[in-house]
Amino acid sequence: MATVDLNQKIPNNVGLADDRRLQRALEKWQPEFLNWWNELGPVQSAANDVYLRTAIDVSGAGWAQFDYVRMPEYRWGIFLADKEEGREVNFGSHKGEAAWQDVPGEYRAELRRLIVTQGDTEPASVEQQRRLGMICPSLYDLRSLYQVNVEEGRHLWAMVYLLHAYFGRDGREEAEEMLQRHAGDADKPRILEAFNENTDNWLSFFMFTYFQDRDGKFQLHSLAESGFDPLARTCQFMLTEEAHHMFVGETGVGRVVKRAAQMSAEHDTLDIRPHGGIDLPTIQKYMNFHFSICLDLFGQEHSTNGANYYSMGLKGRYLETKIDDDHVLTDAVYNVPIIENGKVATGEDTALLAINERLRDDYIADCQRGVDRWNKSIRDAGVDFELTLPHKAFHRNIGTFRSQYASPGGEIMEKDAWEAKAHEWLPTEDDRKYVLSLMAPVHEPGKMANWIAPPDRGIHGQPIEFEYVRLH
Ligand SMILES: [Fe+2]
Ligand SMILES: [Fe+2]
Repeated sequence: MATVDLNQKIPNNVGLADDRRLQRALEKWQPEFLNWWNELGPVQSAANDVYLRTAIDVSGAGWAQFDYVRMPEYRWGIFLADKEEGREVNFGSHKGEAAWQDVPGEYRAELRRLIVTQGDTEPASVEQQRRLGMICPSLYDLRSLYQVNVEEGRHLWAMVYLLHAYFGRDGREEAEEMLQRHAGDADKPRILEAFNENTDNWLSFFMFTYFQDRDGKFQLHSLAESGFDPLARTCQFMLTEEAHHMFVGETGVGRVVKRAAQMSAEHDTLDIRPHGGIDLPTIQKYMNFHFSICLDLFGQEHSTNGANYYSMGLKGRYLETKIDDDHVLTDAVYNVPIIENGKVATGEDTALLAINERLRDDYIADCQRGVDRWNKSIRDAGVDFELTLPHKAFHRNIGTFRSQYASPGGEIMEKDAWEAKAHEWLPTEDDRKYVLSLMAPVHEPGKMANWIAPPDRGIHGQPIEFEYVRLH
């Protein structure tokens, strides 16, 4: 079951050959996917030979094979984690029932919505990042970008498989629409706001893979707990790929921070722009921006949808089965932020209605870990500067803090006062122009752009100066 035959038209470990109808439907969608990739995937990349990993097995450590691949020939396929015999619905009002192998009729609409919303983010990020290859800071980084891109393409396949296999005609229609909505499109934008932003520079790309792919990690984790077993198994395997995306983000931001700290120490100033570096205060602003828009992705603090998805057994909490409680949450409560007398205070909600807030809090704690490591590298360089995640009230567009004006420290302010300070907190037009001005392609193996430190090691045991992408 686990091993994947890459020679099939659609590599898979779901026995596609035994389901002719489904196979035909997916084979019809495949050329449409490839058209989308060629039109809206990474620009001018089709002829490059890229040292990529391809999934060949879903179990154990040896699931990937590394080799030079042209991206349009990447083996996008359908890989589910192995079935766990006797698995149950582990939370909500169906707790203890056998996990569903088919869509429960009464929850069809909710499940489809969850799958479509997740699926839509996958091609969106490829579209958002499509021009970055033209301005890569090294071949090592170019490979990382392409690896993330092909895997987001595969994540789209993962969700489209579920739609085709379990949702009949409306599933097929949803699969079509995945290729019709586009990031930033005025008429048919992607579903979630953060997936319509343009990622036009590599600092944003690293912030994206650190913060936005980490949102993906938490969404996938909670879907990997689903009582709908095919969704759980799909998401489990997607998480193994997602881990690499966050590695790209954490080490990417980490290398920009390291270089900034080096230059600051060398020139004894934070103002390293005259030396062609990205200064730490600018990095902080980008962090404020990306972190805050990602907090919105978790939805409202008080959410009946979130409560319903949980009680229905469709979407659990982060590491649900490791939490020590009744997994039904009838009487449980959870702290949520409220605004009281013009200040952020702590209120209480039912744990069910606050399910989004709990996931957001788990996410914030996870984000902090990387920030701590970045700060250590700043201290190690002997530079007096600390990066901090802004308060969850800062720069929000969904929930309690929507239309509030909070400082990064969490102080609620008047609109005018906030706007007068915004240039200190969020990237300005000038900041963006400056960062963009540094983005020039570096194509010599082993060479790095001046604003980023080299990685500690190469990929898959290869040296840093390995030719990770053969450009054509
Ligand atoms: Fe993904
Ligand atoms: Fe990802």
